[in-house]
Amino acid sequence: MLHRRWFPERIDGDLVILRRHARENLADFLRWYQDPEVARLTRYQDGPMRPEEIERFFLMRAVGPEAMAMGIHIKGSDRLIGSCAFSQLDGDNGSALFHITIGEHDAWGKGYGSEATRLMVDHAFGSLGLHRVALAVFAFNERAIHAYERVGFVTEGRSREAIWRDGAWWDELHMSVLEPEWRSARWQAKAAADGRPLGGAVPG
Ligand SMILES: CC(C)(COP(=O)(O)OP(=O)(O)OC[C@H]1O[C@@H](n2cnc3c(N)ncnc32)[C@H](O)[C@@H]1OP(=O)(O)O)[C@@H](O)C(=O)NCCC(=O)NCCS
Repeated sequence: MLHRRWFPERIDGDLVILRRHARENLADFLRWYQDPEVARLTRYQDGPMRPEEIERFFLMRAVGPEAMAMGIHIKGSDRLIGSCAFSQLDGDNGSALFHITIGEHDAWGKGYGSEATRLMVDHAFGSLGLHRVALAVFAFNERAIHAYERVGFVTEGRSREAIWRDGAWWDELHMSVLEPEWRSARWQAKAAADGRPLGGAVPG
């Protein structure tokens, strides 16, 4: 149960609220993960998961005792649009792998994914005390790459031509953000908001 206690019931942003998944979210998971376009953007395999695989995935990775996943809800309407999670939490080295899927197409490109990612990264560094958050993304997924860059992820490497999709080979990018980078970016954003000159020592 340790992992779940690391996550609050909810994390509030300006556009979205992250909330622990409830059992009834399974119906939405089944719809999202059977969507061919979501599969194209997220899976090595050609085509979506089978319903029984999605149900297993949901039980293990969304509501299971080891799951570190949160539903993404639009603030105001509370509509559930997707899911984000950490996996491979490595306490010895202070690192985790980040995943996000907004399953509702009409919710893409409206800033929800960037904010959900930022809230999870803030939680990783500000509350969990992690040092590094990493992720992997296919090079053709430009929307995702932009969203991650907005939050401070940088490309640290690539698996060359690791995926065959839409008749071509594509790299898989490996991106990460480190806690000192996150702290420095926050400090600069705060200084800019306060109208103070940039520079000087970033508080520890
Ligand atoms: C990837 C994902 C989480 C991004 O969330 P989002 O809410 O759609 O993205 P945001 O609106 O926060 O940011 C998208 C950025 O990409 C840009 N963008 C939007 N559509 C784009 C497109 N088709 N091509 C390139 N860039 C695009 C936006 O302008 C924005 O950048 P900006 O803020 O610098 O203007 C979401 O689209 C998603 O879950 N998609 C399906 C599954 C997926 O791809 N998961 C990620 C697997 S690694």
